Amino acid sequence: MERVQTVASSWNEDLPPEFIRPENEQPRFTTYEGQPLQIPVVDFKVSDEKNLVQTIFDASSKWGLFQIVNHGIPSEVIGNLQRVGKQFFELSQEEKEAYAKDPESNSIEGYGTKLQKSNQGKKGWVDHLFNKVWPPEAVDYRFWPRNPPDYRKATEEYAKHLHEVVDNLLKYLSLGLGLAAEELKSAVGGAELVYNLKINYYPPCPRPDLALGVPAHSDLCGFTILVPSEVHGLQVFRDEVWYDVAYVPNALIIHIGDQIEIFSNGKYKAVLHRSTVNKEKTRMSWPVFIEPPPNLEVGPHPKLINEQNPPKYKTKKFCDYAYCKLNKIPQ
Ligand code: SIN
Ligand code: FE2
Repeated sequence: MERVQTVASSWNEDLPPEFIRPENEQPRFTTYEGQPLQIPVVDFKVSDEKNLVQTIFDASSKWGLFQIVNHGIPSEVIGNLQRVGKQFFELSQEEKEAYAKDPESNSIEGYGTKLQKSNQGKKGWVDHLFNKVWPPEAVDYRFWPRNPPDYRKATEEYAKHLHEVVDNLLKYLSLGLGLAAEELKSAVGGAELVYNLKINYYPPCPRPDLALGVPAHSDLCGFTILVPSEVHGLQVFRDEVWYDVAYVPNALIIHIGDQIEIFSNGKYKAVLHRSTVNKEKTRMSWPVFIEPPPNLEVGPHPKLINEQNPPKYKTKKFCDYAYCKLNKIPQ
């Protein structure tokens, strides 16, 4: 499997044709030229819980995307997560390949290049590393880099700090739907919720106006907590155009994913987004997908369904939902 990092290092004025998106996807024709979009800001230090529930409800039902400030994760912990990820991608190609995803397996874990079945044979300008970081029984250290030596420590430290953010978000999202505080969390897996870390590595691209990093999608998980880098590139689809997303320093970006949209029977919206690449700079991002355990069935919550609001989605095991989405099989 050829890595984008290898293609990028043999720098050339021309972008190889498999990376040239169809015109209706090319950033040069589809990116809104005006100001970047300011996405809602949620301040976790606000002491008034009612206010917090309302802000998160509005952001999740109108946007499916918001950023959290004062989230409580020390900047040193986030800095270390970013440093060890960068150091991994700066290793020799040979060393990285030792963690390559198993092509025979259905699992996405490990170092890889392509995630979804490609659209018309087109490729995204991005390589990645997937590591499940929680719960302990889901962790497979075979795919965790042993170099840099503190990769594991830094990544586990970040995962430990995520619990509070995850639990708070699930509580506020549950209350926003008029449900009990714990209801959403237990419906998506409770103590068995899986935290799946992906590191995206987007090398400098000779033609960022023609290529995309990750093409348009919504996240298939419950929700995503993303640490961005200072190199922007996240875009969101609104009013028929693609907007650059503006985020504030030290914020965590939250994407509502498919499973929470399904659970809420469409009250909350999984956000359609994509990522662009940069001509001079490497871009990276660190999403953690918060997912139901594979065999758990997720469907619209019974209390959110009635005669006026029939179920809009099928109830499905998460692993079946994920398989269909990654293989572009209609749900
Ligand atoms: C993604 O949504 O898969 C990537 C987002 C990003 O890199 O900002
Ligand atoms: Fe995404």
